[in-house]
Amino acid sequence: MTTEKRILVTGGAGYLGSAVTKMLLGRGRQVVVLDDLTYGTAGLDGVLDDPRLELIRADVRDRAAVRSAVQDVEAVFHLAAIANDPSGDLDTALTRSINLDAYAPLLEEARAAGARLFVNASSFSVYGVNVTPNITETDPLNCRREYSRCKAESEAVVRSFTTDTFATVSIRLATMCSWSPRMRFDVIANQLLGIAQVERKVVVHGGEQQRPHIDIRDVCDLFEVLLEAPREKYSGEVFNAGGENVTIRQLAELARDIVGQDGGEPVELTYEPGRADERSYHVNSDKLERVLGFRAKRTIRESMQSIADAYARGEWSDSHADEYHNIRHLGNRLAAAAVG
Ligand SMILES: NC(=O)c1ccc[n+]([C@@H]2O[C@H](COP(=O)([O-])OP(=O)(O)OC[C@H]3O[C@@H](n4cnc5c(N)ncnc54)[C@H](O)[C@@H]3O)[C@@H](O)[C@H]2O)c1
Repeated sequence: MTTEKRILVTGGAGYLGSAVTKMLLGRGRQVVVLDDLTYGTAGLDGVLDDPRLELIRADVRDRAAVRSAVQDVEAVFHLAAIANDPSGDLDTALTRSINLDAYAPLLEEARAAGARLFVNASSFSVYGVNVTPNITETDPLNCRREYSRCKAESEAVVRSFTTDTFATVSIRLATMCSWSPRMRFDVIANQLLGIAQVERKVVVHGGEQQRPHIDIRDVCDLFEVLLEAPREKYSGEVFNAGGENVTIRQLAELARDIVGQDGGEPVELTYEPGRADERSYHVNSDKLERVLGFRAKRTIRESMQSIADAYARGEWSDSHADEYHNIRHLGNRLAAAAVG
């Protein structure tokens, strides 16, 4: 009989969460997923029958469900959220209740149940528009929207629960990319690859804006490092986690080159003046390497190639479908709830 404790992944059916769940199962871990299944279970296809997986379909604000989910748990990866700035603006009170108010009860229950580690998925969006050439964790935050404000405030809540036996850490994630069975085509690298594949034509607005990225497989590797590393090295800390910093123009050119290899029509790029949202930032993730010896290793080309490969396998066809765009999917649900 195994005495190994379980790992809780909130939001474990999501874009990142489903990859984390599969990574943990693949490495022999017992996993509990707590997720309200906003986007269904496609991300967990192939592991739903795995006896080492317990799926709890519940809202992360449901305290009884949370109490049940943290039983015999060693570590919590807290990923459940309304997961980007525009979706967070749809209903800011709802965003705050899920993306911030749910933290303290979850942390209390996890710590009381004997968990030893809590990992918080924060975001580079806390830096907002920041022209600092190389943003580090000590640079000022500039949270302009509810999603980013909640991420920034959550870091302080998480840190306040830290004890010698309950390690916490907040990871500020870059924009993620790569194929996932619970796919998002509303993040920029994925979006450009999707448009190139479906329309064979990409309009680039501006193009010189820099955006940091990280492949979800690198995030999985980082989470494994956090499980294995001595907790005193990083507990109570905040880390940037990004891979390549590239311009939108470079992303569009990569999408053109990758899709163009499939033997179909060549992909045409056209350039137009920039639009209102011209966030351009370059984020430094050296602290992760200094403290934990971790550096993201996948290139954006590899990330985008994984999406083209999934297209070739027939795993997606229309990147414009609502299910792949959080703001549309959530907007539809909120509208239906208002009517109902
Ligand atoms: N995708 C990115 O580029 C990015 C960048 C930085 C940080 N993050 C953060 O990483 C985490 C994962 O993001 P993702 O891209 O996988 O998003 P996602 O939307 O694919 O996944 C979020 C998951 O949380 C679940 N969820 C939402 N509200 C819930 C609730 N009230 N109760 C229970 N479950 C709920 C959803 O069903 C979904 O499975 C989020 O915290 C997000 O803010 C994402």
